[in-house]
Amino acid sequence: MPALLGVNIDHVATIRQARYRDQAEHGVFGEPDPVLAAHEAELGGADIITAHLREDRRHLQDRDLELLARTSRVRLNLEMAATDAMVEITRRTRGQVLNLGLRRPEMITLVPEGRQEVTTEGGLDVAGQLSRLSVIVRTLKGLEGGAVVSAFIDCDDRQVEAAAKAGFDACEFHTGPYAAAFAVTGGDDRLKGRDGRSIADHLAMLRDAGHRTRALGMRFHAGHALNYANVGPVARLAGITELHIGHSIVSRAAYVGLRQAVADMKALIGR
Ligand code: PXP
Repeated sequence: MPALLGVNIDHVATIRQARYRDQAEHGVFGEPDPVLAAHEAELGGADIITAHLREDRRHLQDRDLELLARTSRVRLNLEMAATDAMVEITRRTRGQVLNLGLRRPEMITLVPEGRQEVTTEGGLDVAGQLSRLSVIVRTLKGLEGGAVVSAFIDCDDRQVEAAAKAGFDACEFHTGPYAAAFAVTGGDDRLKGRDGRSIADHLAMLRDAGHRTRALGMRFHAGHALNYANVGPVARLAGITELHIGHSIVSRAAYVGLRQAVADMKALIGR
C-alpha cells in the first residue's frame, strides 16, 4: 500500500499572517484560511492534515487548531514543541471535540522548536532528554481516547533507540538532508551533496533508520522538504507508511489550486 499523505497547511497560514498578523486580537483572521485549505486538501486526497502550532504563533493560531479539530474529515496530526503548555493545548482541543465523538488530534508529532528558525531545522534530541520526553509521551498517550505519538528525528540509531525507550509509537525521519543533496546534485546519484553524501547514501540512511524503527515496533514516517521531484524514492522505501509534506504542495497550489496540487503529489506517491 502506498504511504499516506499528510498535508501540512501551516504555509497557508504563513501567507495569511503576512497581511493579518496584527488583527487576530480583534477577532479578524483573514484569508487564505488554513481551515478551508484543509478542506480543499481533503478533496484532493489528503489522508491526514498536519498542523504545527508554534509557540510564537507565527502561522497557525489557536482558533485554527480548534476549527481543524472540529471540521477536518481526515486524521489530524498536530506538530508541537514538547512543552507542558503545548500538552495543555492538546488536552483542551481534545476536550472541545470529544462531545462530537471526535478524538482530534489523533496524532501528535513532537518537534524541536527554535524561535529564530524559518521552519523546523533539525530532528528532536530524544536521547538527550529521555526522561522528560518519556513523561510527555506518557501523558499524551494517556489522553482520553488515546493518541499516536510520533518523534521527528534525524536518521540516527541512538535517537531511534531512545524514541522506543521513551514510548513513541512512530518516528518521522527528517528528509531535509536528503532533499538538500537532491537539490545540489540535480537528482544525479553519481554526484555528492554539500555534506559529501550522494542521494543513494541518504536513501540508505533513511532505509536503515526505518528498518530499525519497525524492528523496535514503531511506525516509519518521513517528511520535510519533500517535493514533486524528490518524493518518489522516499515513497518507495520499504515499510514507510506516512509522508508529511507542506511547502512544495502549497507552492504548487498557487498555480494549479490546492486540490490539484495534493492530487498530483498523491499520484507521485502511489506510482
Ligand atoms: N514534518 C515536520 C515534522 C515538519 O516540521 C515540517 C515542516 O513544518 C514538515 C514535515 C513539512 O515540511 P515541508 O513544509 O518542508 O514539506
